[in-house]
Amino acid sequence: MTDHSDPNDVSSTLMSPLKPHVIVLFGASGDLARRKLLPGLLHLSQAGLLPDCRIIGTSLDNLDDEQFRNFARKASEEFSSAHHVSDRVWEQFGPRLRFVPQDDGPAALKLAVTAAERELGGEPRRLHYLSVPPNAARAVVKTLGEADLVDRSRIIMEKPFGTDLASARKLNAYLHETFAEEQIFRIDHFLGKEAAQNILAFRFANGLFEPIWNRNHIQHVQIDVPEVLSLEQRVGFYEQTGAYRDMVVTHLFQVLAFMAMEPPTALEPRAISEEKNKVFRSMRMIEPSHVVRGQYLGYRDEPGVAADSDTETFIALKAEIDNWRWAGVPFFLRTGKRMAEGARIISIAFHEPPKSMFPPNSGVGQHGPDHLTFDLADASKLSLSFYGKRPGPGMKLDKLSLQFALHETGRQTDVLEAYERLIHDAMSGDHTLFTTSEGIERLWELSTSLIDSPSPVRSYAPGSWGPNAIHQLIAPHAWRLPFERGWRSKE
Ligand code: BG6
Repeated sequence: MTDHSDPNDVSSTLMSPLKPHVIVLFGASGDLARRKLLPGLLHLSQAGLLPDCRIIGTSLDNLDDEQFRNFARKASEEFSSAHHVSDRVWEQFGPRLRFVPQDDGPAALKLAVTAAERELGGEPRRLHYLSVPPNAARAVVKTLGEADLVDRSRIIMEKPFGTDLASARKLNAYLHETFAEEQIFRIDHFLGKEAAQNILAFRFANGLFEPIWNRNHIQHVQIDVPEVLSLEQRVGFYEQTGAYRDMVVTHLFQVLAFMAMEPPTALEPRAISEEKNKVFRSMRMIEPSHVVRGQYLGYRDEPGVAADSDTETFIALKAEIDNWRWAGVPFFLRTGKRMAEGARIISIAFHEPPKSMFPPNSGVGQHGPDHLTFDLADASKLSLSFYGKRPGPGMKLDKLSLQFALHETGRQTDVLEAYERLIHDAMSGDHTLFTTSEGIERLWELSTSLIDSPSPVRSYAPGSWGPNAIHQLIAPHAWRLPFERGWRSKE
């Protein structure tokens, strides 16, 4: 029997202990499992947030239980924040791991799940995590149906969810043949970042900011996520995907929705999704002429990349939200690989005062408008910049700032990594930070012109901020990154 509990009623599950779980991890020996999911599950367990569970890994590799445990321990040592996994910690976690090669077929998987459930006793819940490329997701869903592992289950789907509107619709329809919508958790790990959720707290828990959060006070917004990393083993995936599908249609638009949405009526999935989806409905189609696609020099020489590849490793674009709050306020988005610095910032530029009584050489306006800047790093930060008087005679103005860093709260160690937070939410049945089929389909719809007639790809030097055309795109404004002044460090 399918679980039809009300997905919007998370109140009973949020704080109550989670039921025992069998977690089936597809793509268990892949990059995401190694970097994030296995270390994350270990951290949840150490934090006392993992219920009694068994974790069954499966992938195209032919591992046995012991080899998988070794793989998971090494991954955790390499990628968990603690960097050392003691024998005592591992003795608690390691024995919970099992492995079933995918080639053994649905019956073998079913057998392993049934054995794990017998060990746990009762009727544990099932969580299927599909850490597989988009073109492999359908086969996994089929396997789950054939293995009769749909009852009592929830399924986490990785992005990109489809590659365009038609494929997203098809994937949704295919999924719904096996799973009810409330069983499906489409993950976007940017929404699991502590700092992204803090946007909601910042905007809606305070009386100070919301009144100025609109076109009357805000000149433009930047959502900027440059990365220094290159593609390494992910080239195969990336050739099919590119920066727009990998980062923009997923993460950057989701962050934009948190920034731009109206106050939801409640902190619950239906209300939040509705407000996010309204933002997506109000967005204008992405115009190819408002998009700069880039490819770093040398990308075409990487093994696995076509000599004439048109895949973008960089993208910058202007998005527009055509509603009363945001009409006329451009949102500039940028992300790319092999760039000068890695950062994840949202920067809000406020209008400048209409008149100035300060003399032209006082410094007023010389460092751009006042900015509110969110740094979405795990050690998140926030800054409000403004002009203030330089001490001493006369009236010289300097750009000053009020800054806040999460570590100043002394609670830095309580931060859950984004995937940890979201896995925990999925086990609780809480959809609040997951994306909806409606929202995703709308984002693909907005992308149609760009996908059908992409703007030409321009090259950029590795270690730069992208092709020169980014400056024309944002003119008369300027990109905040690289910052004129660094963050203050109080350490
Ligand atoms: C992933 C993308 O979803 O997000 C990667 O596939 C990207 O290409 C990564 O590097 C960035 O995430 P984070 O959390 O490291 O900023």
